[in-house]
Amino acid sequence: RSFLGLTAAVGAAAVVGCSTRTPAPPPIAPRPLVVPPLARAATDRSGRRVLDLVAGAGTSSFLAGRATPTWGYGGLPFGGPTLRATRGDRVVVRVRNDLPETTTTHWHGMTLPATADGGPHQPIAPGETWTPEWTVEQPAATLWYHPHPHGSTERHVHRGLAGLFLVDDPEPTGLPDRYGVDDVPVVVTDRTFAPDGSFDEAGRTAHGLVGSTVLVNGAVRPYLAASSTRLRLRLLNASPARCYRVARSDGAPLVLVGTDQGLLPAPRDAADVLLTPGERAEVVVDLVPGARVWLRSLPQDLGAVSGTERSLGARDTLDLLELRAPADAAPPPPLPTTLPHDPALVLPAGATTRVLELGDDRINGREMDMRRVDEVVPAGAVELWELRNTHTRPHNLHVHDARGQVLGTHAWKDTVYVPPRSTVRVVFRFGRHADPVTPFMYHCHLLAHEDQGMMGQFVVVDPGMSAGPVTGAHHHG
Ligand code: C2O
Ligand code: CU
Repeated sequence: RSFLGLTAAVGAAAVVGCSTRTPAPPPIAPRPLVVPPLARAATDRSGRRVLDLVAGAGTSSFLAGRATPTWGYGGLPFGGPTLRATRGDRVVVRVRNDLPETTTTHWHGMTLPATADGGPHQPIAPGETWTPEWTVEQPAATLWYHPHPHGSTERHVHRGLAGLFLVDDPEPTGLPDRYGVDDVPVVVTDRTFAPDGSFDEAGRTAHGLVGSTVLVNGAVRPYLAASSTRLRLRLLNASPARCYRVARSDGAPLVLVGTDQGLLPAPRDAADVLLTPGERAEVVVDLVPGARVWLRSLPQDLGAVSGTERSLGARDTLDLLELRAPADAAPPPPLPTTLPHDPALVLPAGATTRVLELGDDRINGREMDMRRVDEVVPAGAVELWELRNTHTRPHNLHVHDARGQVLGTHAWKDTVYVPPRSTVRVVFRFGRHADPVTPFMYHCHLLAHEDQGMMGQFVVVDPGMSAGPVTGAHHHG
C-alpha cells in the first residue's frame, strides 16, 4: 500500500514539470527493432479473408529489471500484429475481448459500412467476439487499428492497444515491399514510467498523457540491422498527444512517398515530416553501406503558446530508431519518378461546405453526444470541410469513412493538423455505404481532447434521405 502511495505521489508531482519530469529509466542495452508479426489469415469457403484478433492483458519489459502491465492484440503483450488485405478482398475480422472491460476496435482510415467501423457504437463486452465484415475498396495505404470506447480511448490506447492494417494494391510500385526486411513498420508512441515500471496514467497535461520515453514498436531506442541500403519506413504516430517532427540525423532529406491514405503522385524530398497523433507517412531512406543513421524527432513549432508546446513535449529532441546499413551492398536502382495513386479530388460545383469550429474541447460549441447526429452526408459525396481552430490549443481532425486532400494539395489524408488560430480546408470524399441510424465519428485525435467530448457524429445516407434515430451501443447484438 505504501508503495502505491509513493507511485501516486510521484505521479502527482510530475504534473507540475514539463515533459522531462520523471527520473530517467534505467539504461538498457540497445535492442533490435521488433517487427510486429503479420496476423494469420485464412480464406474461408466463400472466399472471404478471415483474420483473428484477441485483445488481452499481458506484461511487457521495456526497462531493465522492471515489468510493465500492458494490453495488446493478437497475444502480444503490447501493440498488435499487422493486419493485411488487398483491394477487392472481402474481409472478416473476429475480434475477441479478453480484457476486463468493454472496448471497441476501430479500423482507422478504412472505408466501410458504419456497423463495421468499430467506433463507440460497436462495443465488445468482456468475453464477447465482434465480427465485422466488409470489402476493401480503397487504394494501398498504411492504416491502423485501435480502441475507440467513448470516454476511454486514451486509456485503452495508452495501455498498448494499437496495430497496423496495411491495404495492398496488386499494382507494382517500384518501392521496397518485403515486409519486415526493407518495408518496415515504425510505430511511435510515448510513455512515462512510474518507479515500479508501470505506465504512469496520473501525470497528465492539459492535452492528456505525454510521455518522457519514446517507444518504437514497443522498444526504447531500438536499432534496425538492415540487410539492404534502401528502406521504406511506414511511420505511425500512435501516441495519445505527442507530435513528432521526424528527420534523419545525418541531415539528408527523407523521401516522402505516402501519407495517411496512400501514395503520393511522385516521391518528394522532405527535410522532415510532422506527424500529429493518428497520422502516418511512408518514407524511403537510402543509406551508404556501413552507415549508422538515427531517425530522430526534432523540436516542433506547433504554432501554440509556449506553455502548451512545453507540455506537449514539442521542444524535445528524441532518438527514435537507429538504422544500421549493411557493410556492403549494391547501390539501389533509381526511385520511380511516379507512383500509382488516386487522381486528385475535384470539388464539384455547388459542393456542400461544412464549417467545424474547433474550440478548446468542443466542436461547434457542442460536446459529443452518442444520441445526437451532427451531420448528414450523402453517400459518396465530395465535400469541403473547413476546419477553424479559433483557440490557442493545437488540434487535429480525423474523419472516419473519408479520404481527403487539403485543398490544393495531392497528399491523401484522413487526419489533418489544424494549428491554433488557423483554418485548414479539406476536400473529403465519403464512403458509399448508407446507414441512416449508425453514426461515424469525426474528432480531434489528441485522445484526451476526444475523450473530453471533442467529437461529433455523422451518418451517411442515400442522397435525399435524412438520418434516423441513432441505434447502436445500447441496442447492439
Ligand atoms: Cu484513430 Cu476515431 O480514430
Ligand atoms: Cu484537440
